[in-house]
Formats: sequence, C-alpha cells, structure tokens
Amino acid sequence: MSSEWIDRLGGYPSIWRRRHLLGLEELSAEEITCILDKAAIFKQLLSEGHRRIPLLVGKTICNLFFENSTRTRTSFGLAARRLGADVVDFSAATSSLSKGETVIDTARNLEAMGIEAVVVRHRTPGIPHLLAQNLRCSVINAGDGPHEHPTQGLLDIMTIRELRGRIEGLTVALVGDIAYSRTARSNIWGLKKLGAHVIVCGPSTLVSPRWQELGVEVSYNLDEILPRCDVLNLLRIQFERQARRPFPSVREYVHLYAMTRQRMARTKPNILIMAPGPINRGVEMTAEVADGPQSAILQQVTNGVAIRMAVLWLLTATP
Ligand code: CP
Repeated sequence: MSSEWIDRLGGYPSIWRRRHLLGLEELSAEEITCILDKAAIFKQLLSEGHRRIPLLVGKTICNLFFENSTRTRTSFGLAARRLGADVVDFSAATSSLSKGETVIDTARNLEAMGIEAVVVRHRTPGIPHLLAQNLRCSVINAGDGPHEHPTQGLLDIMTIRELRGRIEGLTVALVGDIAYSRTARSNIWGLKKLGAHVIVCGPSTLVSPRWQELGVEVSYNLDEILPRCDVLNLLRIQFERQARRPFPSVREYVHLYAMTRQRMARTKPNILIMAPGPINRGVEMTAEVADGPQSAILQQVTNGVAIRMAVLWLLTATP
C-alpha cells in the first residue's frame, strides 16, 4: 500500500541523509530542490482529493511551541495527520516549565514517551540545535527567535517557483523588519543557493549594511528598487521583539515602505506580493494589495502543508 505512494513520490531520494531540519543555511541547493520537488508531488496528491497518504502510520510528531503560532503549528499538525502520524500538541503555558523544568528536560521527557520528531519554536536562537544534540528523535526548527524559520523559507520559495517557474535570475526583495526576521534569513539562504538576486530593504534601523556580507543588495529606498523586482516579500514589523521603536511613527514607516495602490502602479505587471504572515493590514501593505490579484499570500499558506509533509516524510520515514 505505502509502496504505491512512494512510487507516486518518485521513491525515497538517495541524496537525503539528514535527520534534522535546523536551517536552510546548512542545506545544499540539491537538498532544497529535493524538498521542493517532493512538496510539489504532495500538493498534487492533496489536490487530487487524497486526504490520507499513510506513509507515517505509527509515528508520532510533537509540536513543541514556546511562542504563539497560527500557520506553522496548524500546518505541521495537518501535514502529520495527512501522513497518518499521531500528533501531540505541547502547551508551554500549562506545562511543568512553570516549576523550573528546563527546555531540554521537557523535550527529553516527551521523547521518552515515544515520539519520532519534535517541531520546536522558541524565542531563543539555537534552541533547536541544542535539542538536536540532546535528543535521538528528529528536530525541526519552526522558528528560533530572529535566527531561522526554514519551512517558511521553503514554502516561500515553493510559491515563487510555482508561480514563476524558476528561482534563478529572479530579483526578490525582502522588505521591512529584516533585523528581527527569521523568515528573512531563511529566504536569503534558500534563494541565494538557487540563484536569485536578493535585496533587503527597510529603514536603516532595521537593515544593517552588514547584510551585504551574505551576498545580498542592501537598499533603504523602496521606490528606487520597485521597478526591478519580480517578487516582494513584505515582512511584519515585529514590535514584540524590539526594545525600542525603530522609526518615529507607523505613519512614517507606511509613507516610506508600505505597498499601496500607488506603488503597485510602479512595479512590473506580474509582480508577486508575498508575506509570511501574520500581516498588519495598513502597515506593511494596504488591504487592497494584500487581497489583490498579485497577492500570493494564501497560496503560501496552502503550500506550507505540502512543504511540511515533505519535510516530515524525508526526516522520519524509514527508507
Ligand atoms: N509565518 C508564520 O510563522 O506564522 P505563524 O507565526 O502563525 O506560525
């Protein structure tokens, strides 16, 4: 039975050797392409109406979220269930963390109950890496502070590839809160490896010139770069991570960096508008841009399920 599904997936890829997904920094272009290709097949299977593709029956995935989430947590849960796995949703707020138990002890106790993977989100960069060193099961980074959010980067890249047919040669601008954005880092690593030209654009308080060291173009002027861009990924201003406001007022930010109808008139006609979500309507973009014909925001969310199915299968299936 499962061999039919594996045939549809083109077999378990011989290049895949990894047990953890901690970031896109350490993945090769070949590994990223492998995940994208498998996710495209999972998406096709879902679109054919298959709601259960039982490749991970008997396995258990634990969502270990220490920060809030709508999209990532739900889509990892859905992805695991679509694959026939069991899902445990850990709630930090009601756990024994409040009694002083460490994150590593918490994770090791959950692992002792019999799980094949933990999907972890934490405000501290490096927590998924620490867990990977201390657990036998697979560890998937669902966002570690401002460091990386690899499955978000993958679903963003999948969406661009789906809608534009390629990544190589495209100009992709990441606009807004670059300093605090894990999505920015994962997008930069993934897009650069696949041959895109990446621009980071925003206020100087949120975009250090040192980003150039990662091989990206740095801009403080959205209006100047707009006509050159194929994709705009509009990143949320993460007020909750900032000790001080990085600009005098939201109105000033909107004036310089929000995507509006007026700015849309200055883009390439087939520009893609993307956002990792959650979006602040009226801050990163107006509602008519978010809901407009060039917006791929909900397609990104749809692709998140397929990407997470591919990641869970590659990391936890027994080939
Ligand atoms: N994009 C993203 O990570 O959304 P959530 O915080 O809702 O998971």
